[in-house]
Amino acid sequence: MDTHLCAKTEQDSVPDGAGPVPDLSGVHLVSQLEGMVTVFCRDAEATEALGFFLGTLAGGGDVFCLNGDLGAGKTLLTKGLASAVGVPESDVVSPSFSLLNVYEGKTLEVRHFDLYRLNSPEELADIGFYEYAGGDGVTVIEWADLFTSELPPDYLQVNLLRENGGRRVELTPRGRRYDEIVKEVLRCVDARPGYSD
Ligand SMILES: Nc1ncnc2c1ncn2[C@@H]1O[C@H](COP(=O)(O)OP(=O)(O)O)[C@@H](O)[C@H]1O
Ligand SMILES: [Mg+2]
Repeated sequence: MDTHLCAKTEQDSVPDGAGPVPDLSGVHLVSQLEGMVTVFCRDAEATEALGFFLGTLAGGGDVFCLNGDLGAGKTLLTKGLASAVGVPESDVVSPSFSLLNVYEGKTLEVRHFDLYRLNSPEELADIGFYEYAGGDGVTVIEWADLFTSELPPDYLQVNLLRENGGRRVELTPRGRRYDEIVKEVLRCVDARPGYSD
């Protein structure tokens, strides 16, 4: 990845038209182990900012699989991600009944799945999951861990867990493309743990 979107050093440049530089000040590094990076998002803004940051790194064909309980922050993170590719935030709503929402971003289309109410893999075919996931837009899948056998081979796994009033977010790359994304997150988040309270 040759552009650095967090502009941490003077050499880093933010490409023209990339929009605002994401504010990752509420996102703190917890640990890194064998490619997996864990961060702590201290508040809802930080979760959204992490999503926005991932969106600035996203390209066509990328797949983000979000796991975590109800209210963990999956939809909020998706709002941030989608807004980085030019989707108005108010367009992003939970597809828990529709199973799939499609948003036209300025730079990329976003396919937003929520598998919580899905009963069988056959229903995935009905909603076009196999054509969409990993197709030319960006794919975000909430509750991906309910159907792990149906996921594309490569994706970024994002697990959100409630912790200390905020969210612990584990980023596990599945495939080399996502190693690069996780490395960029590692480079840009606050290296201090951030448990101030
Ligand atoms: N890091 C955080 N710290 C505290 N609250 C958070 C954090 N991230 C998200 N939240 C809150 O958690 C809720 C997440 O809701 P939502 O994104 O709809 O969850 P999900 O899609 O996982 O069910 C929102 O009320 C949001 O304000
Ligand atoms: Mg949701």
